[in-house]
Amino acid sequence: MAMIKFTLNGKSVETASEPSTSLVWFLREELGLTGTKWGCGQGLCGSCTVLVDGRAERSCQLTLEDVESAKVVTIEGIPVSHPVKQAWLKESVPECGYCQPGQIMNAIGLLLKNPRPTEKEINQAMDGNLCRCGTYNRIKRAILQVAGKLPV
Ligand code: FES
Ligand code: FES
Repeated sequence: MAMIKFTLNGKSVETASEPSTSLVWFLREELGLTGTKWGCGQGLCGSCTVLVDGRAERSCQLTLEDVESAKVVTIEGIPVSHPVKQAWLKESVPECGYCQPGQIMNAIGLLLKNPRPTEKEINQAMDGNLCRCGTYNRIKRAILQVAGKLPV
C-alpha cells in the first residue's frame, strides 16, 4: 500500500493507513493527539479545527489523502507562549474547555489571514465554532487583544 506523508507540528509523518481515514480519527486514535476534539463529525461545530497549510480546516471533513504533502498543525503544535494562547489565558476564556482547541486553531487561522480583524470580521470567522458554555465574548476579546485593539 502506498504511504501517505505529511508534516505534523513540524515533524514528518508517514503512514500506511487507509487514504480514506478521517484526519481527526488518525490524530486522536493512531497518534494519541487528543487535543483535537471530536464533536459533530459533520463539519458543523468546529471542535476538530486544525491548520492545513496555514488555513483553519475541520479535520473531521478531511482524509489522510487530503493532507498528503501538507503542513498540518494541531493545538499540540502551538506553544503556550503563542500570543493567541497567551490572550486566552489573560481573558480566562475556557469554561469546560471542550471546544477551545478548535476555537484557538480557528482564531489562529483568522489572524494568519487577517492580522487585524474588525469585530465584525471576528464574528464572521468564528461564527461556526460552537461553544455550549457560551464563551463567545471572551473569545472575541482575546482575538481583539492579539489584533492590538485591546490593551494587553
Ligand atoms: S467534529 Fe468536525 S466540525 Fe464538528
Ligand atoms: S468552553 Fe465548554 S464548550 Fe466551549
